[in-house]
Amino acid sequence: MLIIKTNILNPISSDKVEFLPDTFISISNKKIASISKTIENQDFTDYSDSVCIPGLIDTHVHLSQYYVRGKHNSNLFDWLDNCTFPEELKSKDPEYARKVAQDFFTALKKAGTTTSVIYTSPFKEACNIAFETAEEMGVRAIIGKTMMDTNSPEYLLEDTETSFLESVELFEKWNKKTELLEYVFSPRFAPVCSSQLMKMIGEFAQKKKAYIQTHLSENQDEIKLVKKLFPKYKNYTEIYEKLGILGPKTLLGHGIHLDNEELEIIKKTKSKIIHCPDSNFFLKSGVFPFEKIKKSGIDFSLASDVAGGTSLSMFNVMKMACYRQDDYTVSPEEAFYYATLGGAKVLEKEDIIGSIDVGKEADLAFVKIPDINNKEKKELLSKLVFLGNELKIKATYVAGKNVYEKS
Ligand code: GUN
Ligand code: ZN
Repeated sequence: MLIIKTNILNPISSDKVEFLPDTFISISNKKIASISKTIENQDFTDYSDSVCIPGLIDTHVHLSQYYVRGKHNSNLFDWLDNCTFPEELKSKDPEYARKVAQDFFTALKKAGTTTSVIYTSPFKEACNIAFETAEEMGVRAIIGKTMMDTNSPEYLLEDTETSFLESVELFEKWNKKTELLEYVFSPRFAPVCSSQLMKMIGEFAQKKKAYIQTHLSENQDEIKLVKKLFPKYKNYTEIYEKLGILGPKTLLGHGIHLDNEELEIIKKTKSKIIHCPDSNFFLKSGVFPFEKIKKSGIDFSLASDVAGGTSLSMFNVMKMACYRQDDYTVSPEEAFYYATLGGAKVLEKEDIIGSIDVGKEADLAFVKIPDINNKEKKELLSKLVFLGNELKIKATYVAGKNVYEKS
């Protein structure tokens, strides 16, 4: 049994956060066994100088793009062609792929992120290596091989059948291999995936109840191209619906420029939207209709979208979610919720992770906050969201195991 003394900041809903100062958390068999004000003469780990939050959840991030963070291009397509695609090619080399994966997961743990949903590159071995590294490092991760079988540079282009079979092979090998690892089918987006490929993925993933992730309606040029490539469909979202890749385990990156009909399809199929505010700034993609999506009842969450996003830190993402809106004020409570419990809900894992409650797995991040005893809940939360980049993570735990400790 591990006992920790700390100050808990816990998301309850998108507008409510609970604060429990000077509290003991006991952890047994990977889970939170108790949360109490006192303990009987036992040894404990003292993190009283820190705030304890649920491990942060990044629901959309590209591992193979980790080294090109901050490499500027003025729009999505130029950035993909000049920066992202050439970088993804580099992870064809297993040595390079291993180094990126090691640096990526090390940085995630240091940033207090305990769960992430990851695209790798179109190379099977790079995806294998990402899983091996995630396993070694003890993180919770849902990982997939990026799929692209048309309209792509020769050096990334896959044969349709090979793309599908390699993904199935990776799924069979890694999905639920450990309690922390799962597979996500990852057709990149409609412009680079054939209808046949998307259909095959849809059929297989629905049958196996597997996750699917893709990009949707991020950029106006992308939408124009999709209309040209798929003329028989009413809109972008309908393509994914008719080809069978929407459902409760489908994660749609961005969804900035959707019309009401498209939102209806997403709601009806219980698909999820992933909002990546830093990336939307960086690539000038537009303003995510935060209030509208929230009111629509569609589940959504926050993500870094590195390297469209410049930083792996979900503290940075929370802040950007607040900054990116022009006419709606995203509160610190909302930003915190969509990076924790909201992320867990999108992954249908809210019974296991996302908040600090007895019975849930102990995925925790301890954030050192100077002068902590003189601060009220509101101020602590606000500092966490807006000064997160300056604050240091003291320790990170995944399923009760200490995976990072600041030296
Ligand atoms: N659309 C298709 N691929 C990508 C990608 O790698 N990043 C972002 N931001 N959008 C995409
Ligand atoms: Zn992305």
